[in-house]
Amino acid sequence: MIRIALVLSLFARVASAQWWQHAVVYEIYPRSFQDSNGDGIGDLKGITSRLDYLHDLGIDAIWLTPIYPSPQVDFGYDISNYEAIDPQYGTLADFDTLVHEARKRGIRILMDMVMNHTSDQHPWFIESRSSRTNPKRDWYVWRDGKAPGQPPNNWLALFGHSAWQYDSGTGQYYYHKFYPQQPDLNWRNPAVERAMFRAVRFWLDRGVAGFRLDAITNLFEDPQLRDERVLGGTNAYGDPNEDDARTDNLPEVHDVLRSLRMVINTYPGDRVLIGETYLHGPEDLNKMYGRNNDELQLPMDMQVGLIDTLDATAYRRRITEAETMVRGNMPLFVFNNHDIHRSWDRYHPAAARIVATILLATRATAQMYYGEEIGMTTTTPTRKEDVRDPIGVIGWPREKGRDGERTPMQWDATANAGFSTSASPWLPVPSSSDSVNVAREQANPGSLLSWYKRLIALRRTDPAMARGDNAMLDYDSLNVLVWLRKTPGRTVVVACNLSAQPKTIVLRGALRPILRSDSAATGRSLPPYAVYIGAVE
Ligand code: GLC
Repeated sequence: MIRIALVLSLFARVASAQWWQHAVVYEIYPRSFQDSNGDGIGDLKGITSRLDYLHDLGIDAIWLTPIYPSPQVDFGYDISNYEAIDPQYGTLADFDTLVHEARKRGIRILMDMVMNHTSDQHPWFIESRSSRTNPKRDWYVWRDGKAPGQPPNNWLALFGHSAWQYDSGTGQYYYHKFYPQQPDLNWRNPAVERAMFRAVRFWLDRGVAGFRLDAITNLFEDPQLRDERVLGGTNAYGDPNEDDARTDNLPEVHDVLRSLRMVINTYPGDRVLIGETYLHGPEDLNKMYGRNNDELQLPMDMQVGLIDTLDATAYRRRITEAETMVRGNMPLFVFNNHDIHRSWDRYHPAAARIVATILLATRATAQMYYGEEIGMTTTTPTRKEDVRDPIGVIGWPREKGRDGERTPMQWDATANAGFSTSASPWLPVPSSSDSVNVAREQANPGSLLSWYKRLIALRRTDPAMARGDNAMLDYDSLNVLVWLRKTPGRTVVVACNLSAQPKTIVLRGALRPILRSDSAATGRSLPPYAVYIGAVE
């Protein structure tokens, strides 16, 4: 009995020591972080030169969006070689230096793995489209049209219009969930899995700590090619709205995830799988961890991050779901990434500290996006001719694309905000960089950057914040979001006033402030949008 208990407690300690549990993962969009050679495009050497900043911020890992060779139609999400670096970002040697220098600072590197599709310039696809009998034909999803000039069914690409592209060379259509330049791989062919897992091993062997899995719910489509249900109305591209039951989140995805998890488990050092999992609800999210917790360790929870209004009821309910519906697994919260408008613009600007607090003071792994910590805003192009993201061209003016959340990092108030010495960075540097920049906020203890740093430090050093349970309290009628972080010896209360009015709440026990956004906040009394974190004595 005693031996079993010992083994169990040892196991619990080992399990709780996994680095990614409660880590802070920082997403870098490499084109936009730091340019080291003056070509207007960020690169790996640039990222390495900023590691001290990231170390000081306190992050645990960097997720790099794709840096592989690519025609850059979708800025790297169209990969033409999975085992190399695009020359515009640097070399494999630069990558190794980045991994090494990051490790010295206790920071891990996560790669973005795009398994759903390749570039149409990938040698696999070039072969596949060369003839109907090519051995790689079946690596992609090729079908005959329904009738001359008609695609096989009504499926739509997420980036606009039919998901089927006619190929005149061989007289068939290929399927693409995203751009036509991103043909979907056929995951029903085992050779595809073998080739992709080889790429996965290539990077694990080079020391990456894991992957963010792009579009992972899209790997499989209905083999019978049944039409999607039409829902009525049109989307931003003018296409009919459709359901996604035939092309998204099919059960076969889980077989691939289990196999992939087995691959990464053969490597030492707690390698991790993060999933890009936009799902319909917590039940689907729960499945992503695997029935035996043998799939993704960290599927992204967008239920919390995309609430988009300061509504305490919605937060309390969804955070509770995240805590209770995933069988003790770790939720991964995220408010910002390279595909969605920055949170600063989706909420009231005064809410930036509240968003940071929900992200960093709950019991969740936190994923943040460069520039979030200084309050960068979305700078959407105002003219169609300035748009770089193709969906902004296809969907203009209803869909203006994602350039707005991908503008260069704002380091200081010098030319191009210190991002690049080029006369024309790949996207314009927002004029807000004069006042919203790292240098300025580093010098100001009251800045948003300082708030992020203090929260991140607290989540490491305070035992209740680091390891405590998370219990949401109901102050919905006041629109105040309150929760407790609790270990056997310590309780911390976090209270966020989500409203523009001062609020008073009833809390038991004596409170000792740990961190507050406004010196007038006492925990019981909260000025508009104030955050109070305090120990319950
Ligand atoms: C994911 C990426 C997005 C990309 C798409 C296609 O959603 O985050 O940026 O365009 O996949 O790869």
